[in-house]
Amino acid sequence: MTTLSDPIKNKNIIYVLIGGLVAIAILLLDISMPRGVPYGILYSSIFLISLFTKNKKSIYIGAITGTLLTIIGFFMSPPGVELWQVLTNRSLTILTIWTIATLCLFQYSNFEKMRAGQDELELSIYQRTSELNKSNAELEKESASVQLHKDIAIAANETKGLKITLELCLKKICTHAGWPVGHAYLLPDQTSSWLEPAKVWYLENPSRFDTFRKISEATPFGPGMGLPGRVLLSRKPEWIKDVTKDANFPRAQLAENIGVKAGFGFPLLIGKQVVGVMEFFSTKAAEPDRDMMKVMAEVGIQLGRTVERHWAEADIQSSNERLRKLYQRLEMIREEERTRIAREVHDELAQMLTTLKLELSLLDKKMVDDNAPLRNDTQMMLVLINNTIQTVKKIAMDLRPPILDDLGLHEAITWQGSEFEKRTGINFNFEVYSGNLELDIERSTTLFRIFQETLTNILRHAKAKNINATMKEKDGTVTLQVSDDGIGIKLDQTLDVKSLGLLGMRERALVWQGDVDIEGVHNQGTTVTINIQRV
Ligand SMILES: Nc1ncnc2c1ncn2[C@@H]1O[C@H](COP(=O)(O)OP(=O)(O)OP(=O)(O)O)[C@@H](O)[C@H]1O
Ligand SMILES: [Mg+2]
Repeated sequence: MTTLSDPIKNKNIIYVLIGGLVAIAILLLDISMPRGVPYGILYSSIFLISLFTKNKKSIYIGAITGTLLTIIGFFMSPPGVELWQVLTNRSLTILTIWTIATLCLFQYSNFEKMRAGQDELELSIYQRTSELNKSNAELEKESASVQLHKDIAIAANETKGLKITLELCLKKICTHAGWPVGHAYLLPDQTSSWLEPAKVWYLENPSRFDTFRKISEATPFGPGMGLPGRVLLSRKPEWIKDVTKDANFPRAQLAENIGVKAGFGFPLLIGKQVVGVMEFFSTKAAEPDRDMMKVMAEVGIQLGRTVERHWAEADIQSSNERLRKLYQRLEMIREEERTRIAREVHDELAQMLTTLKLELSLLDKKMVDDNAPLRNDTQMMLVLINNTIQTVKKIAMDLRPPILDDLGLHEAITWQGSEFEKRTGINFNFEVYSGNLELDIERSTTLFRIFQETLTNILRHAKAKNINATMKEKDGTVTLQVSDDGIGIKLDQTLDVKSLGLLGMRERALVWQGDVDIEGVHNQGTTVTINIQRV
């Protein structure tokens, strides 16, 4: 203010000086000459000078001084002219001074009013502009947080693992807030009360924050301990202005310079349970930013849901894993049981029946010829025993063909296919291509059982006339392909969760990191391709 008003003040002083000098000069002129007609009018020039100051007070002073000097001059100047002329002259001077003064004052007051109006207008424009700027900044802030929520929602819905999702979110938040370091902690399980470093980071400059990263990754936090512990306890965002000066920031004591100053953390919440904490650091000390804390509290709820979803997915996955293991174990037990029963039926029952047959033949021979009706009975019994031996052998074969254990998969499939052909009249053709097809007994059993299931399906559903099967090995993968020329399986049937036979086939193959692909073409047939790893 002083700097602005000083030049005006200086200028006014100059006008006052000029005015004073002119006044003295005119007065001297006035009093040295006879009371003349023209001199009185000169006093108005003093007043005119005061107009340059553009100041109301100066105009009054100029007008009053001019008036007083006109009157003083009248009394002091030597006589010479007619009194009425002098009086008229001086009265007109005073009239001129006050007429101009009134007009000027009127104009100045209008000018001032106008200036006040303009000032008011400018003030209101200024206020409006700053209000507009403020709302604009708020709007920008709000739209940035909306964008952040959107980005977090997109990242959270990614079907990737939890750590990848958290990493993506850390990056988004750091970029949004302009903080160079972001790190996440998670509860190792739902019952735990300690936060473990998730070892998921956003680091603007990894080498610069290496010490801090190492220290953080080695430090778990209980309730109330350090920044994550405080968030865990309060279940609210927490802010530390300067971690190096904070009594409850253990990591600052572990190194001379951890490279960070202000710290901020917020909880990942499922309902009221804190399941994780995200923390962020800046290289400069900073006062709490309430708006940011509010936004991050909401982001924490959003991310809590993501953790919950991932936990649920992990639960489902582990329960699926357990079910799969159980299925595999049951299949193994079933196979062992089949092998044992097949062996017992074949070795013991068939053996006993053979002995019985021998004994009956001896008895038959011992009988005298005239005992014909009895011999008839023994002959009938012999036929019955023979049939029973065949049935028992067939049961044993069906349970577990010894050919699989003795001669291997190739022979077992050939045998099973020709048996199928004999029984059903559907042509069976089997070709084996080059490659290392030596498989252990477990893998052979898996392929053989899946093959049997495809034959059963063809018989039950395909209405086929021909079956073509091939087997080959390439790069450690053994592929058995069975094609029929029947009605063709539909796509929805291959994907139907109720197709338990197909599901069983897939589950069996999965044990050996394999898979089963089933494709059908309407009225042209179905092809089942089974891949398993040889070792
Ligand atoms: N070779 C095939 N040709 C035409 N349709 C087939 C063939 N194999 C399977 N399907 C169709 O796929 C469905 C599912 O087969 P899946 O083996 O899972 O069940 P299923 O044979 O009906 O019953 P099961 O559980 O006793 O095996 C069958 O019901 C049948 O409609
Ligand atoms: Mg089936």
